[in-house]
Amino acid sequence: MSRPVALVTGASSGIGLCFAQQLARKGYDLVLVARRLERLEKIASELSQEHSIDCRVEGRDLADPRAVADLVSDLERDGVEVEVLINNAGYGLAGSYLSQPWQQHEKFIRVLFTAVCELTHRLLPGMKLRGKGRIIQVSSVSGFMSGTAGHTLYGAVKAALNLFTECLALECKGSGVHVTSLCPGFTYTEFHDVTGTREKMSKMPWFLWLQADRVASDALDCCERGKIYCVPGLVYKTLLIILWLIPAPLRRWLVARQGSSYRDSSETPVKTN
Ligand SMILES: NC(=O)c1ccc[n+]([C@@H]2O[C@H](COP(=O)([O-])OP(=O)(O)OC[C@H]3O[C@@H](n4cnc5c(N)ncnc54)[C@H](OP(=O)(O)O)[C@@H]3O)[C@@H](O)[C@H]2O)c1
Repeated sequence: MSRPVALVTGASSGIGLCFAQQLARKGYDLVLVARRLERLEKIASELSQEHSIDCRVEGRDLADPRAVADLVSDLERDGVEVEVLINNAGYGLAGSYLSQPWQQHEKFIRVLFTAVCELTHRLLPGMKLRGKGRIIQVSSVSGFMSGTAGHTLYGAVKAALNLFTECLALECKGSGVHVTSLCPGFTYTEFHDVTGTREKMSKMPWFLWLQADRVASDALDCCERGKIYCVPGLVYKTLLIILWLIPAPLRRWLVARQGSSYRDSSETPVKTN
């Protein structure tokens, strides 16, 4: 790879795919990570032809505890130096906290938080050494509010990701590395198909929906300008200000009331073996 390299996790669809397309347009060589290898190969072949860049495809399951270490060691062996890291891979788990076995939650935390922290930890030293790097952690507006049943761990993980990113951004100040937490609201992607909540979600008003392309471009712009948080769309910026201004009990009541109309909060507990 002869150009600066950007690594995008969850590049096989949605927001991650948009990041890959925009970074290709900017002239980055790409490392695309996700589980669906065929999809990644198709995307890589289209982007490399269209933008004359090199695309490397990495079919990895980030729920596997060895995935990040193996990936980074393969990149190091081949002399690939990552300048832009987009930690985007993620999904939601439907139902109340007890309606999923512990193993599902464990995998969820691994993909949405542990793998993010580990990739950052393994790639940041090189960025600091070269005096240039960009890291975008794809979080969510859910990280700023207590959720409802059906979103219990998701919001908590995104809140942890926000605080981690904020602290890391402060730690990296002056090093040439910018770290940004991207906090989108509802975005048109495959996310709600994977969670199985598409039908309920289609009841949400149109003005709450964001386009994935816009979400990715706002994030790249915010990160370039050294912003720690990026909340795409005026609707969500306003919503967050209102939620911050009202007392916490009222905020929790409002979020729970609204959330129950579109979240799957099924209560049937499952036994963890
Ligand atoms: N859509 C929204 O409304 C919304 C709102 C706020 C935040 N977000 C966040 O945005 C990020 C991207 O989601 P999206 O909306 O673009 O959904 P998406 O279209 O379903 O994309 C999710 C991506 O994550 C990858 N992924 C999932 N599990 C993985 C695993 N175990 N190992 C490797 N890759 C994995 C998927 O690839 P494979 O299936 O091929 O592995 C896919 O490329 C997530 O972190 C999500 O929490 C989404």
